[in-house]
Formats: sequence, C-alpha cells, structure tokens
Amino acid sequence: MAIRSSLLIITFCMLVSSPAASVDDRKVYIVYMGDRPNGDFSAEKIHSNILEQALGSGGSSSLLHSYRRSFNGFVAKLTEDDAQKLANMEGVVSVFPSQKKQLHTTRSWDFMGLSRHVNRTRLESDIIIGMLDTGIWPESKSFNDEGFGPPPKKWKGTCQESSNFTCNNKIIGGRFYRADKSFGPTDIRSPRDSEGHGSHTSSIAAGALVSRASLSGLALGTARGGVPSARIAVYKICWSDGCPDADILAAFDDAIADGVDIISLSVGGSFAVDYFNDVIAIGAFHSMKNGILTSNSAGNSGPELATITNVSPWSLSVAASTIDRKFVTEVMLGNGEIYKGISINTIELKDKMFPLIYGGDAPNKKDGYDSSESRYCWEDSLDKALVAGKIVLCDEVNNGEGAIAAGAIGAIMEAYLDSAFNFPLPVSCLGADNGTEILSYLNSTRKPTATIFKSIQEKDEQAPYVISFSSRGPNPITNDILKPDLTAPGVDILAAWSQGTTVTGLKGDNRVVPYNIISGTSMSCPHATAAAAYVKSFNPTWSPAAIKSALMTTAVPLSLETNTDAEFAFGSGHLIPSSALDPGLVYDAKEIDYVKFLCGQGYDTKTLRLVSGDKSRCSETMNGTAWDLNYPSFALSAKAGKSTTRVFHRTVRNVGLGVSVYKARVKAPSGLEIRVEPNLLGFKAIGETKSFVVKVKAKIDNMMLSGSLIWDDGVHQVRSPVVAFADGNNNLNY
Ligand SMILES: *[C@@H]1O[C@H](CO)[C@@H](O)[C@H](O)[C@H]1NC(C)=O
Ligand SMILES: *[C@@H]1O[C@H](CO)[C@@H](O)[C@H](O)[C@H]1NC(C)=O
Ligand SMILES: *[C@@H]1O[C@H](CO)[C@@H](O)[C@H](O)[C@H]1NC(C)=O
Ligand SMILES: *[C@@H]1O[C@H](CO)[C@@H](O)[C@H](O)[C@H]1NC(C)=O
Ligand SMILES: *[C@@H]1O[C@H](CO)[C@@H](O)[C@H](O)[C@H]1NC(C)=O
Repeated sequence: MAIRSSLLIITFCMLVSSPAASVDDRKVYIVYMGDRPNGDFSAEKIHSNILEQALGSGGSSSLLHSYRRSFNGFVAKLTEDDAQKLANMEGVVSVFPSQKKQLHTTRSWDFMGLSRHVNRTRLESDIIIGMLDTGIWPESKSFNDEGFGPPPKKWKGTCQESSNFTCNNKIIGGRFYRADKSFGPTDIRSPRDSEGHGSHTSSIAAGALVSRASLSGLALGTARGGVPSARIAVYKICWSDGCPDADILAAFDDAIADGVDIISLSVGGSFAVDYFNDVIAIGAFHSMKNGILTSNSAGNSGPELATITNVSPWSLSVAASTIDRKFVTEVMLGNGEIYKGISINTIELKDKMFPLIYGGDAPNKKDGYDSSESRYCWEDSLDKALVAGKIVLCDEVNNGEGAIAAGAIGAIMEAYLDSAFNFPLPVSCLGADNGTEILSYLNSTRKPTATIFKSIQEKDEQAPYVISFSSRGPNPITNDILKPDLTAPGVDILAAWSQGTTVTGLKGDNRVVPYNIISGTSMSCPHATAAAAYVKSFNPTWSPAAIKSALMTTAVPLSLETNTDAEFAFGSGHLIPSSALDPGLVYDAKEIDYVKFLCGQGYDTKTLRLVSGDKSRCSETMNGTAWDLNYPSFALSAKAGKSTTRVFHRTVRNVGLGVSVYKARVKAPSGLEIRVEPNLLGFKAIGETKSFVVKVKAKIDNMMLSGSLIWDDGVHQVRSPVVAFADGNNNLNY
C-alpha cells in the first residue's frame, strides 16, 4: 500500500526536518506518573526530585516540561539507561520515548441527516470543543464570531495571542506546544495553522455557516460544521515534522483543566501500542475521568486488517466512509477517446490538446536515471527537455512533484483509487486497463496528444461505504473489544483551509484557497466529535460512555456487499446524529468499570492505583473480562474450527420513555448462536437500570460472523453488533 500512504503524505504535507547530528545520545522521554495528587502540588519540585534521585545530582537539568493540571508526569531528555532507572522508581507508571505521530468537507452533514434546520438547544453555544491539531486560521469565515456572546463561564483556558494570532468569541482559546523547541523553517510559533489540516477539522466540527463555499467551484454549497454554535479551543500539537507525543500529552493536560467538553484528535501512530505507553490512550483516560469524551481517527492504514490505532475502550474510534458525491476527471486523447479518472483537478487547460509522452520514454539520463525509474515519474527522474510543456503518463500514482518539477503541463497516473486527491498540476488517475490502452495509442501515432479536464462532480449511488484507506479491525490490543466503533464521512470533504499554505502544500503549487477538499479518518473524526457535542448539548449530564453508546447504538450498519470487511471496517455502522439524541437505552461505564477491565487485562494494582489516583485494588471481584466491560458492541475471538462459548454481562439505563418494555431481537447467521436472558426488560421510570446476559456460541470457519442484538420498545431500536471471528489469523477470507 505504498501508493496509498504516499497519497496521504501529499494531503497532509509533512516535511521532514533533519536536526544537526550531535554527540548527545539523549532522547526526549515521557515519564507518566498517573493521576494528579489532590490539592496544591508542586509538580516541578517533585519531578526534579525524582530526576535527582534516579540520575544523581544535576539530573533535574534534563526536565523539559511538567504535566500537572490534569494528571502527573513529565518530559525529560534522557539516555536509555536513565529511562530504565526512572521506570523502576516508585510512583512511575511508564517511561517511553516521545515519538512523532502523524495527521491521519459540506454536503456531509445533510448526507448524515443533520439538516440546517434541525432542532438545536441554546446550550450548544456553551459546548467547547478542544481541537488538538495543526492550529487554526482564525480569519477564515468559518470562524467568524458574529452573534456569539462571551465564552461560557466554565472556560478556564487562555489564548496565547501574538502579533500573528488573536482569539474571538468563536475561537475562545489557542495554545501551542513544542517541548523540544525544534521548530522547522515553515512552522509558525503561534496557534496559527500553516498546514490547513487543523482549520479543516475545526470547521467540520464547529464551523459557522458560509454560503457559496467551494474549491474553485467544486463542491459548491454552504459549508458548515455539525455544531455551528459551539466554541472552539485550539491546541496546536502538530508541526511540519509531525506531532510529538510529549506535546500531545501536554495539550490533554491543559484541555481537561481548561474545561473543554469534547476532545477531537485526528492524529495517530503507525501501529497500536499498549494503553499506558500511548499518550493518546493516557490523555483520553484522564479526559474520561473528567467527563470528557475523546473522539479519535481510526487511522489511514487500511484496507489491511488489524491496522487500527487509537483503540482504547474509553475513547471513540472513527472510521471513514464516503458520501454520495465523487469527483471524476476526464482525459481526452488525440484520437477522441475519453477516459474517466479519479482526482480533484481545479485547473482548466481550456480544452487545448498537448503533446503526450510516456514517463518511461523520458528518463533523465544526465543524472543517471533510466526508464525503470522515469516510468513512475519520480522526482528528478524525468528529462525536462523531453517532458516540459507535455502531459506525461506515469505508471503509478504519486504526489506529482516529479512531473511538475520537470515542467509537465499535466500527468496521467495509473492506479485504481476510490477517493480523489489533489495534485499540484492537472492529474487524472486511471486504472491499468486504461493505461495500457493509452500506451498503445502512444505507439500508434507519431504525434500523440491529450488533455485533462477540470473535475466534475458525480453522484455515488453506492454510498456510504468504508473507504479503502480507513484502518480496519480487529483491535490489536484487546481483541474482544470491537474497533472501530463507528464510521462517518471522511472522503473528499470540503472545509476551511489555511491561507499560509496552498491546496497541496507542494512545490510548484501556488493556489491559495479559503476552502479545500481532502480525505482521511482525520475528516471523519470531527464529524463524530460534532455529533457527540450535539448529543451533549441536549444531555449535558451524560458521561462519555453514555454519549458514545448513544452514537453507536443508533448507527446504521452498512451493506456487507460493498463492505466485505464488515464490522472491522464500520464498527456499529454509519453515524446518524439526530437519532443519537434519543437512543432509548444507554450502555454506561465509569472509571471503575475501566479499572476493573484493566485488572482483567493483567495490569497490577500498583499501576492502576497511580492511574486512577484512588485505592482501587485488583482482586477476584475487581477483575473484569473484556466481555464484561459494559460496551455497546459484542466481540468474540476464537480458534478457527472450534466451537466457543462466551458470556457477556451488560447493564442498560433507560433514557427514553418512562414506562417501557424492551424486547430482545437477535439476528445471527448460521454458525453463530446468540441467547439473551432475560429477553424482556421492563422499565417503570427514566434513569432505571436493568441487567442482562448474552450467551454467544460461535463456530468459526475462517470467516467473520456478523450478528446483532436489538432492544426494541416499538419506538427505539437499540442496536449492537455481535461479531465472532478467528483470532491470530489475519489472512482470513471474510
Ligand atoms: C424538535 O423538537 C420539538 C420539541 O421538542 C419536537 O416536537 C419536534 O418533533 C422536533 N423535531 C425534530 C425534527 O426532531
Ligand atoms: C505570521 O504569519 C505569517 C503567515 O500569515 C507568517 O508568514 C509569519 O512568519 C508569521 N510571523 C511570525 C512571527 O510567526
Ligand atoms: C477504462 O477502463 C475501464 C475498466 O477499468 C473500462 O470500463 C472503460 O471502458 C475504459 N475506458 C475506455 C475509454 O476505454
Ligand atoms: C509500445 O511499444 C513498445 C516498443 O516501442 C513495446 O515494448 C510496448 O509493448 C508497446 N506497448 C503497447 C501497449 O503496445
Ligand atoms: C483475574 O482473573 C484471571 C482469570 O480468571 C486470573 O488468572 C487472575 O488471577 C485474577 N486476578 C485477580 C487479582 O484475582
């Protein structure tokens, strides 16, 4: 999938800086120490002391940053030996190097059934969304604060104003983080967004209504966020070289204490890691403890199985699916043949025909390249004298920098894609069949010509389906907690953009635009964030787990025909925000439930006491299985060919009608048996809870079995997927 990842790099434009080599073999580490002690605590002093104790006198000089507002821990520059010594100190939960995570728009809200005229509450403008991202472009019309009053009273954050950045009553907070101070040349040292990504995600979640927004006429319409009245608090954690772990955790520390209601984080590592060695899981745990849901992108490493990251059960993991709009770009050859490719091309070539050349016929021999390289149009591989002013045919899709640097007018790239990307020059991506035909046209004529048209919008009748790049389950950390949790639009989304960059951010692109179209689970995550904020604006007292349950149990499962990875692709299904307002029943969970689950996962009392900050003790009763965590979905991994039975205990709380009777309806394919006891739940009042047991028996023959349990009172259908799959075998034929 090298093709796909190179595309995502184009979209998110991560330049790699190379710090000067030095003899210093110390690296930036995070020392995580669990919950924050109550009352006043002098974090720097405690952290300096631990460093001196572990490393000897002078050890405290390596301290870079203290976490102290919402949890306890610090960042320090350490050798591996130092890190080992600290890991053995009393009070330390985990020590791990700060690595860099990567960044993983508005027809989409109508497509999700959240029209402009949907019911809203006045409380929506008290909701504060914490956006941990590349910052924001505050002058964008999407962040205009017209009609907004002052920030809600609970807000305790600040705005790191500078000559370059001021907040308003829409963007009520702005901070930026870089513990190691290694800024790149293009990095702006303020909450201002020089990448575009953070402005895009913020406007998807909470952008104001902006009519006639488009990317050069494409996706023309009213751009708006899911909760246009909500406030935005900006925490800039991503820079030109990625998103350092130390800074992600610092942003969580502040966002929780500042009083945000929801945290949105469209960032992830390249693979899932253990909960307390993962800053996002740690930050999300303390958010949950403080009543704040963290909404995460699932990652862009699909379609391979078990590629999902951000899998902690106390956060929401969001996959990306399509909306009913796609962009196609036509190519016309000199012989009149027209091919329909996938891409976003804003540039009009005015129907003029240009000479066409095959990259493989134009190697830059002077610099030692041959046609085995130039056929892919890699950077520097093309001979400028041959390519300039022409359209070049390339045997793979890449970001187009090679073609534009060689002076090409446009490029035709060979790749079957299901989502359209931007390039710095006119590009259309065609499948290999069409590529071969174009090659034979090239062979058949002395003066081959072609042109590439501006993209057009088409209706996608198959939508929604989970896009190929969206990371898939099963959950690599806890197999039997189903991830992703749900899916939301993340393909070719129009939303606000930064004026500090161009459409692609690549060399040769000079299109500075107020709105851009990009794709990623980065874009689906803020859709879910806004839906969570929308639910919270109607139900301000609901816990993170209750909000998550409402979103999941009202989601609509997608077709198994267009989504062959089934629940590993879409979790509970496609998000429907308006249904989530009235779920009927919720599967709630509190910190103690997660601690119990963690005991069962093998974490010891010492660790869990530090994390929870209380006297919890793992014991026979305080020892939960993954099956008994009160999760709104059911997953069972088992050995292929063997029959396996698991028992799941669940409790639901009535949030629908006072007096109601819910009946269990079960759907199960052959090979899966689902028994629910009792199968009737009678409620007399709102707030009442009822418990039940689900017994699942599965015989798996290398196939995923997808069933469901629906609690139905005639008004609400509270749906949970029930899936069984073979464990430890990712070469399954699902
Ligand atoms: C909006 O809220 C009102 C009052 O709560 C309710 O009667 C109406 O059905 C709601 N409309 C929609 C579209 O949900
Ligand atoms: C201010 O923002 C502009 C982009 O608008 C940027 O080029 C400039 O470097 C910034 N100045 C500072 C001091 O960060
Ligand atoms: C391009 O290839 C597709 C199949 O991949 C085919 O359906 C289509 O007809 C081809 N287009 C042309 C103009 O040959
Ligand atoms: C085009 O011609 C080259 C030789 O000049 C040959 O190797 C190639 O197979 C031909 N391609 C097609 C698609 O006809
Ligand atoms: C928790 O349960 C597991 C499996 O039943 C058992 O091996 C473990 O010893 C238990 N832990 C405690 C602290 O009781």
